[in-house]
Amino acid sequence: MTDASRIRFADRISNLPPYLFAELDKLRDRKRAEGVDVISLGIGDPDLPTPDPVIAALERAARDPANHRYPEYYGLDELREAIAAWYARRFEVTLDPATEIVPLIGSKEGIAHLPLALVDPGDTVLMTDPGYPVYAIGAALAGGRAHSLPLTAARGWLPDLEAIPSDALAQAQLLWLCYPGNPTAAVAPFEFFETAVAFARAHNLVLAQDAAYSEVVFDGYRCRSILEIPEARDVTVEFHSVSKTYNMTGWRVGWMAGNAQVVEALGRVKTNVDSGIFQAVQHAAVAALDVEQEWVDARNARLQDRRDRVVQALRRRGLEPEVPKASLYLWSPTPGGASSVDFASRLIDEAGVIVTPGVGFGAAGEGYFRVSLTTPDDRLDEALARIDALSF
Ligand SMILES: Cc1ncc(COP(=O)(O)O)c(C=O)c1O
Repeated sequence: MTDASRIRFADRISNLPPYLFAELDKLRDRKRAEGVDVISLGIGDPDLPTPDPVIAALERAARDPANHRYPEYYGLDELREAIAAWYARRFEVTLDPATEIVPLIGSKEGIAHLPLALVDPGDTVLMTDPGYPVYAIGAALAGGRAHSLPLTAARGWLPDLEAIPSDALAQAQLLWLCYPGNPTAAVAPFEFFETAVAFARAHNLVLAQDAAYSEVVFDGYRCRSILEIPEARDVTVEFHSVSKTYNMTGWRVGWMAGNAQVVEALGRVKTNVDSGIFQAVQHAAVAALDVEQEWVDARNARLQDRRDRVVQALRRRGLEPEVPKASLYLWSPTPGGASSVDFASRLIDEAGVIVTPGVGFGAAGEGYFRVSLTTPDDRLDEALARIDALSF
């Protein structure tokens, strides 16, 4: 047997924090093993089914031996063309499927790998705080330094780009945005995207907008793509995936679209480290991108109903969550300004309900917690009833 103490791990892994959501899964499993009937509102992972035509397409494609071989390195032409057709239909944005789109094994994979294409050791990556943890993890894996842009409710959870210190800006290679936001569920006015593109162009930054939640919208809201801005393509890429749009988190298909040089560079990293997405799954993603808008609208109506139930339940307890126009989340202040970890711990210990403490998304998330809307209705109601019965 190997003596584990003799293994020296790289600083890059020794300094890597445990992944927030893997830790939440462990907590859930530990509590269940103790016999607690745990309800997790912690992770944004749709419980509702994938559309039938997608499953039928997978079944057909899985029977074709051509799809059992290594996939095409840059993704099937059909998939890149389907992504381009979706952008044209949805945003009236024209993308060249050959040079401006790279399929990903879920957008998380590309988000984690993009810094390998852009960031040298010592370079800075600008990202919002609170934010999706993978922006900082990708920066760290590339040897870069994360510089956080604190978000506040007062600014509508939009970063103040002019407040970035000049030394951080001088070293910066990459700026991450995420709207609709995780965890804040905030949406960005289109003018903010215009400001961000102008800022990135002025400071020679690559601007990466993570649009994972752009199709999960409520009250008739419609998100726009940052690539609708004519000059955006000089410096901008947008990440997207079928995960949240079509209830397909487990299928692992996403993409990055936009600036052709950045697409080429991420593609070069990827062809050297992975061999693409199972082709049968790519055919299924093509079918997903053809699913009618009515399906998406009906699914969103169900999530909106859950959103309203959570908002009502929290308001009954004197909390004032923001009412989101988009995303799978509610972002709420903790009662009486309690620490987010203390409040989340109380919920799990006294109610068996998991929510995500805001500080898990960065220091500026302190004093908030995130509730995900991806729990079946009856379990969501049960969780809300248990929260209702707690004294705080
Ligand atoms: C903001 C954001 N971006 C990207 C992802 C990754 O999604 P996927 O890899 O399933 O496309 C997530 C997943 O939760 C997310 O919240």
